[in-house]
Amino acid sequence: PLLTTLFCALAYLLGSVLFAIPVCQAWGLPDTRAQGSGNPGATNVYRTGGWAPALATLVLDAAKGWLPVWLAHQAGLSLLAQAMVALFAVTGHMIPLYFRFKGGKGVATALGTGLALAPLTTLLISAVWGGVMWRWRISALASIVAVVCGPLVSALIEPDTLPLFGLLALLIVVRHRNNLIRLAQGRESRF
Ligand code: G3P
Repeated sequence: PLLTTLFCALAYLLGSVLFAIPVCQAWGLPDTRAQGSGNPGATNVYRTGGWAPALATLVLDAAKGWLPVWLAHQAGLSLLAQAMVALFAVTGHMIPLYFRFKGGKGVATALGTGLALAPLTTLLISAVWGGVMWRWRISALASIVAVVCGPLVSALIEPDTLPLFGLLALLIVVRHRNNLIRLAQGRESRF
């Protein structure tokens, strides 16, 4: 329990680093929180800075999810404990300690945790993301459809991780509530 608590704390502290912010600074871009959707995430960085800083944000936000789960796995923590570590990383991104608890939507961070815990499920739902994005060019729609598919896909191929994917889907869909409203009104931005 002590080790699990330590890894959860580490995951929260790492998750709290919103990489969109330093990446935009490094690229000389305006603060992503005052641009586009206002979200500190890879999609919104793409809107102001294009693919290179967006890719950097995606990779770094995913890595901060992947790393604590991978370390917890190396330390021999149970699958349940690893799933808790994953949830703390994503919660860190959503409610970050260093940014007045105002964070992002958790998609990239969840991707990283998923790659560490259930790579096959995560690759398949990433393909769903890609398919929806390719067809409709709306990142939030792709994220929502992909995370909702998560529990279904994991139930079929990595059933031990179903509770994690269920909780991630719930958290991420709730964080997309403004996107859902804009989608219903036909106002969500397209690429
Ligand atoms: O990962 C966030 C994405 O699903 C939506 O981002 O900026 O369009 O609200 P955004």
